[in-house]
Parts: sequence; structure tokens; C-alpha cells
Amino acid sequence: MNIGVIGVGHIGGTLAEKFVKAGHQVSVANSRGKEAVRAFAEKIGAAPSDISEIVKGKDVVILAVPLPAIEKLPRDLFKDAGKTIVVDTSNYYPDLRDSHIKELDEGKTESLWVSEKIGHPIIKAFNNVLGGYPGREGQKERGRGKTCRRCGRRQCGRQSRRHAPDR
Ligand SMILES: NC(=O)c1ccc[n+]([C@@H]2O[C@H](COP(=O)([O-])OP(=O)(O)OC[C@H]3O[C@@H](n4cnc5c(N)ncnc54)[C@H](OP(=O)(O)O)[C@@H]3O)[C@@H](O)[C@H]2O)c1
Repeated sequence: MNIGVIGVGHIGGTLAEKFVKAGHQVSVANSRGKEAVRAFAEKIGAAPSDISEIVKGKDVVILAVPLPAIEKLPRDLFKDAGKTIVVDTSNYYPDLRDSHIKELDEGKTESLWVSEKIGHPIIKAFNNVLGGYPGREGQKERGRGKTCRRCGRRQCGRQSRRHAPDR
């Protein structure tokens, strides 16, 4: 598939890399232009893109920006998106990280708010996984099956010296 990823931070960067490894054609963009994503794109085998080009001709576009940044996306970005599937990864963390969004504070669902802002239906996905996790499937957890020195639990799997398995 031809996939555009907007935002190459924790979750967008991880997904972009994973999609490339799965054999998809991937383009990536952020708010700062093609050159700002070139090094990352080349590292993972994706194509750098300006945001204005990230939707055109894509089967799927992943929105991986902080929720308040959705209002800052170029107006009409999804105007000609047609049947392109838009997947939104965002979560709303008012006070902790995000500025308050009145409609959400009053109870509107995030997915409805996002689809109204961009003028295109969205699917909410990947918002419940940790960035960095999708590339780790199939890897053996360190210490799996052994007793942790700190917790005394089997299969603790936490990645620090204090949580090292007792060999
Ligand atoms: N971190 C996770 O593990 C995780 C997992 C699942 C879901 N999420 C959710 O996914 C969203 C993104 O989280 P994150 O942790 O990946 O954030 P992040 O690491 O801060 O990355 C955000 C990315 O969005 C880009 N961006 C910001 N404003 C933009 C704009 N107006 N136009 C285009 N690109 C823009 C940033 O690049 P520039 O600022 O340079 O443009 C950056 O590449 C959040 O809502 C978060 O809750 C996060």
C-alpha cells in the first residue's frame, strides 16, 4: 500500500518504520518541511514529503501528531482525499500535555472532533500501544522465564539493571 505518515515522533516514527519493513511504500512529513524529515526518512527507507503532498495518491494516511496540532494542519489538507483511509493515533491529555479543547471537555468524542476538524472520516487506531512497541513483536523479552532479582517475579521482563533476572 501507499501510506503517508504525518508526524514522525514516538508513534508515527515507529509505525512508519514498521510499515516500510512490511513492504509498504511510505512517505513521511512533519510541520517543518521535507528537509526536516529527510534524514529520518532515508534511515528507515521512506520518502520525505512536504505536508502538502502527504495525502495525494495515498491509500492510507496516518495522523500521528499531538491532538491540539490537528487544528494547525493546513486547511483543506484532506479536501481531495476521496477514499483514502485516515487513521488517527491521537489521545487527549489535557493539563498533562495538551492544551484544553472546550468541545472535548464538554464531552464530544475525540474521533468525532478530529473528523470534523479535518473534514474526513477517521479510524482511531494505534492510540493504545506504546511508541516503540510495534517494532518489537517476536523479540524475546530479556529475562523471560527467569526470576527477577528485584521483584522476585517470574517473567518480570523490565529492562533495567535492578530488574535483571537472577541467573
Ligand atoms: N508516544 C506514544 O507511545 C503514543 C502511542 C500511541 C498514541 N500516541 C498519541 O499519538 C499522538 C502523537 O504522540 P507522539 O508521542 O508520537 O508525539 P511526538 O513524539 O511529540 O511526535 C509528534 C510528531 O508530530 C509532528 N507535528 C506536530 N505538529 C505538527 C503539525 N502541525 N503538522 C505536522 N506535524 C506535526 C512533530 O513534528 P514537528 O513538531 O517537528 O512538526 C512530531 O514529528 C499523541 O496524541 C499521543 O497521545 C502516542
